[in-house]
Amino acid sequence: MKDRILAKLKETYPDYISGAQLAERLGISRVAVWKHIESLKESGYDIVAVKGKGYYLQHPEQAIIPSVILENLADPCWGRPIFYTGQAESTNLWARQLLENEAVPEGALVLAGQQTGGKGRLGRRWSSPWGGLYFTLILRPALDLQRASLLSLVMAVACARSLHQNTGCTCGIKWPNDVFIQGRKVGGILLEASGEMDKLDYVIAGIGINVNLMPQDFPEEVRHMATSLAIATGHSYDLNQLVVSLLKDLRQDYYLFLQKGFQPFREVYKEYCIHWQQPIMVHTGKNYVKGVHKDLDANGSLLVEAANGEIISISTGDVHLIHYQEE
Ligand code: BTN
Repeated sequence: MKDRILAKLKETYPDYISGAQLAERLGISRVAVWKHIESLKESGYDIVAVKGKGYYLQHPEQAIIPSVILENLADPCWGRPIFYTGQAESTNLWARQLLENEAVPEGALVLAGQQTGGKGRLGRRWSSPWGGLYFTLILRPALDLQRASLLSLVMAVACARSLHQNTGCTCGIKWPNDVFIQGRKVGGILLEASGEMDKLDYVIAGIGINVNLMPQDFPEEVRHMATSLAIATGHSYDLNQLVVSLLKDLRQDYYLFLQKGFQPFREVYKEYCIHWQQPIMVHTGKNYVKGVHKDLDANGSLLVEAANGEIISISTGDVHLIHYQEE
């Protein structure tokens, strides 16, 4: 019912709709309308109530409405079913809990308006205030663990390409799967797998995109390194439309990868990568490796040429650009 109320508020935007009209159109009592509106406000929806006029949804582009997403999905598609909540600790965590308790099909979408404990790569936090996209896809690829690490690069290509096409903004990739715009991070991907080394049970692909966030929405310690689509382009985006496009593009690239492997993505990855053949410093957790990013190996590991000519392969770490020029 909350979803239907949101859809009606979005439909009537920029006009007000009275409690009585909502009650009549949805076949519920005015008290029930009021209760649902209160609960929507608690989960973060910016709904204004004005005496004598009714209800009004502010920033409707920020309002995630599952029924609007479902209506716009192509066929075949990802995003069926959608598990949605206004606030989750982490959609990756929620996806895992769902998988433990029920049979969730491939392509199911786990989506939250905001996260209180968003998880990032390498044990970091992912700041997830209202206005961003935070979702996890449940996948069941017939892959071993090594090939699944290539999937994380494929997802980065799909996101960077999709965001580029949808916003016109030049997007880049920082290895392995950070999405960048104008030298700052706009999105990240956290893939978690479960199963045996040689055959996975499932992969959960968590994706976070800073869509309509403003500088003050980021924690101070990351503000200088982060951006959002709204900051980069000067206008806000409809989260429902954006997630629909991302789902379509991610699905398409996922199946291409399952059929043809990483080869079709190699050149695109290279084209999007913001440090290909550039001097970089990689923090591997144990130490720092300095050199020139030469290539990727067959598993998607980073190949770095050190000053003495030695080629060092790095499977996990954090890349820092040494002389990255902003576009
Ligand atoms: C990174 O560190 O770059 C990866 C960030 C991944 C964040 C997304 S938001 C949706 C999903 N749920 C989480 O808790 N994390 C991922």
